[in-house]
This record gives sequence, structure tokens and C-alpha cells, in this order.
Amino acid sequence: MVFNLSEQNSIANQFILELRDKKIQQDRMRFRKNMERLGEIMAYEVSKKLSYTTCIVETPLGKSRINVLKQNPILITILRAGLPYFQGFINFFDQSESGFVGAYRRESLHEVNIKLDYISTPYVDAREVIMVDPMLATGKSLMDSVKQLLKRGTPSHLHIVSLVAAPEGIKFLAQHISVPYSLWTCAIDEHLNEQFYIVPGLGDAGDLSYGPK
Ligand code: URA
Repeated sequence: MVFNLSEQNSIANQFILELRDKKIQQDRMRFRKNMERLGEIMAYEVSKKLSYTTCIVETPLGKSRINVLKQNPILITILRAGLPYFQGFINFFDQSESGFVGAYRRESLHEVNIKLDYISTPYVDAREVIMVDPMLATGKSLMDSVKQLLKRGTPSHLHIVSLVAAPEGIKFLAQHISVPYSLWTCAIDEHLNEQFYIVPGLGDAGDLSYGPK
């Protein structure tokens, strides 16, 4: 399944517009804030598909039943572009264990090579895992990160959450991921350009958040 947030009319579309707008996106603080706000909205959407259990809470006046998360999902993000979006997730899943993967792209004329240089994740076996990576372009960095993650156990379900996804990346994941997963995104765009950037996309999410490398 692919969940696409912008198929529904909501205030989220204003945040997506501001991330894409080449003038508004120059305000780095606003860019990160909009990423974080969309992270919160997507965390809420994903939360509807997690496992719940009923608990009873004692109020000053009586007892109330409510369904709560069985277990906190594990959150994983890819540095550095994932950080502001991830912040939105951890704002809501505020007791979750978190993992981080450092990945960078090496572009050559006809291909993009991904180097992973840092991995720190909890054990994920039989756990619900949410992997947060805002720009799903070729899907290679995400796939390499998933491979590393699977060395730390097999999740009961893997939720992959992007913000803007290219059809090429969606297809690549469908062809290569071997465990049950769901893909969540705020928008599906047209295609990748020669530098493997998403068109129309929004540009380089890491540079827009933190400045050029
Ligand atoms: N990473 C980005 O930041 N932007 C893209 O368009 C693709 C990958």
C-alpha cells in the first residue's frame, strides 16, 4: 500500500507548498519547522495502523477505558536530511527508541552510489519500525539502510515514511524489500532528473535545512 497525504485536502498542503516554494524555502527555520509539522501529521496517520491494547485509566472521578499503543514503535532516520522530519515523529512517539543511519550520495554520470558511514540502531526483531527518510529518490540509500537494519532483527512491520517520493524510488523499493512494509508519503512527484533529484520536488532537503555542504 502507498498512502499519499496530499490526495486529501488538509492544512498539510500549505506546509508542502511552503517547502516547495523556492522563495519561502530559503527561510531555513521555516523549512525545518514545516518538515517537523508534516512529521507530526504523518506520525498521527501511521499511528492509526499500529497495534493497540485497551487500558483503564483512573480519573479523580472514576475509571475510563481507552486503547493505547501496545508498544512504542522504533524510529529510524537517515542523516542528515531526515532530522527535522524525524523530530515530528519523536514529538508524538515521545518514548520511542531511535536509530540513526549516516548516508551520503556519490553521484557519477550515470549512477548514484550510496555510502553508509554511521549506523546506530536498537534491536528491531518483532517490533513495529518506522523509517523516516523525507526524499525517496532512487530508493538506494533507503534500501541500503533497510539491509543494515535487518541485520538487527526482522520487524513485525516496517513503515517507510517519505515526504516527497519519485515513482522510480517507489518501484525500486517494491522490487527489493523482502519484509512486509507500508509506504507513506506526503506527495508523489513526476520523475528524477540526471542528477537523481526529484522533479518538481523541492531541491536538496539537507542543504535547505542546514546549509550547503
Ligand atoms: N535528496 C534530496 O534532498 N532531494 C532530492 O530531490 C533527492 C534526494
